[in-house]
Amino acid sequence: MKSKKFYVTTPLYCVTAKPHIGHAYTTVAADVLARHLRSKDLPVHFQTGTDEHGSGIEKTAGEKGVAPKAWCDRISAEFRALWKTLDISYDHFLRTTDASHEAGVQAVFERLLKTGDIYKGYYEGPYCASCEAFYDESELKEGRCPVHGTPAGRVSEETYFFRLARYEKALLEHYERHPDFLSPRYRAQELLNFVKSGLKDISVSRTRVSWGVPVRSDPGHTVYVWFDALLNYATGPGYGPERPSAGFAQVWPADVHLVGKEIFRFHGVVWPAMLLALGVELPRKVYAHGWWTINGAKMSKSRGNFIMAEDVVRDYGVDALRYFLLREMPFGQDGDFSMEAFRRRYNADLASDLGNLFSRVMNMAAGYLEHRLPHKPEGSPVFSELSSRTPEIDRSIEALQFSEALEQIWRGVSRLNRLVDERKPWDLARKDPAALRAFLNEMVWCLRLVAGWLDPFMPATASRMHLQLGVGMTSGGVEPQKVPPLFPRKHDDKPGAPGNN
Ligand code: MSP
Repeated sequence: MKSKKFYVTTPLYCVTAKPHIGHAYTTVAADVLARHLRSKDLPVHFQTGTDEHGSGIEKTAGEKGVAPKAWCDRISAEFRALWKTLDISYDHFLRTTDASHEAGVQAVFERLLKTGDIYKGYYEGPYCASCEAFYDESELKEGRCPVHGTPAGRVSEETYFFRLARYEKALLEHYERHPDFLSPRYRAQELLNFVKSGLKDISVSRTRVSWGVPVRSDPGHTVYVWFDALLNYATGPGYGPERPSAGFAQVWPADVHLVGKEIFRFHGVVWPAMLLALGVELPRKVYAHGWWTINGAKMSKSRGNFIMAEDVVRDYGVDALRYFLLREMPFGQDGDFSMEAFRRRYNADLASDLGNLFSRVMNMAAGYLEHRLPHKPEGSPVFSELSSRTPEIDRSIEALQFSEALEQIWRGVSRLNRLVDERKPWDLARKDPAALRAFLNEMVWCLRLVAGWLDPFMPATASRMHLQLGVGMTSGGVEPQKVPPLFPRKHDDKPGAPGNN
């Protein structure tokens, strides 16, 4: 890694809906990266949070009969609770209703008014209330919002514009000079085409939305939610246009913004243009991942097919969910989530490959290592071969290729399973106890390595393994024990079915 520190972010999640596995996905990915880099002694700053302004939220709160802020408090707390359940190691949870963020947004707005990057104008044209966005006629699909498919309304109102068009050339130059800025590459082309086709200034204030950050010099306007929310990445660590804090200087520029593909344009075009206008260095990378469908269909309110992380965790445990999310589909591409696929992977990869290996070795170690933890096996070919895989696993994680890293780890796990089958330790127990002890010694060390690889992905499992493998203990201080299965096999999804506990 080039950086001397690492700043990673997730999008700020909208508090219109409760958190589901789509939200968990980006957050778990950011967490794996953060944990991995911390283990390499890199100072990491990991920021996430909630996006709380806009008429959509005001409307939802109204429907529930609560004040917007009370609603935001409730849903924001649910996100935080889920991140606790999922072992998310964020450093800062930012809410766009935090006073320090709101003050930062107001200050940036005033600064850009002063520099002429924001100016007052008049907007007349199509508007989608759900997106809270103005559209160009050419963007509509048969008069309907391209995102929601609902008929677009028409509005005419006074608004402030941000001079996005002014930054078209600078953006194209930046993309050219930093080919990894928009990642993965196969998603970048669409954005390049969009910018090349000519940028238009965008409206960044609303007079019709009251639940937002008021423009300080013109309080009849509130700041457009996206302009407000994008600034979180800078206000979180302490950016202000007058005096950025020492904290900001320490973490900025962001090393990677992880986002879903549907918000790539805001992060890859609008956000860097805002930073260019402010004279702030651009983030190093914006990485757009793909979307989960559920049994082949889009997750949506009308279908009611949301998969909630808590439900999966209740039945399978936190680490199984973390594993599946990052293993099932390559980060960047789209994929499908089904409980059948989940159970299949759980049983095959976790219960059988990893879980069985671990209990087979540990149960024999408990019986045959004479209650002493082993010493590092000198000259063990399998241990050296396995150790030599670490750099490629690290590289995959650092390239955000999480599924590849897990495949590499599982190749190591399979190698060890094969070795147990070949060496037949249960036979050795009868024929050659000294050879058995040497073999188990080697295996314990190999499993320590595997536990280390798994640590960023499945921290709770890794620490259970570490404990049982005596990692961090003084030699001879811990006895290997018989262990309960790491991942009990599941037979059926139905509650109460045998083995489903
Ligand atoms: N509030 C904005 C982001 C502002 S960032 C300055 C927003 N929020 S969101 O809650 O609607 O979505 C946030 C993220 O959730 C998406 O970018 C995406 O990462 C993730 N996902 C939501 N549903 C998803 C799937 N079905 N699959 C994968 N990720 C998806 O956009």
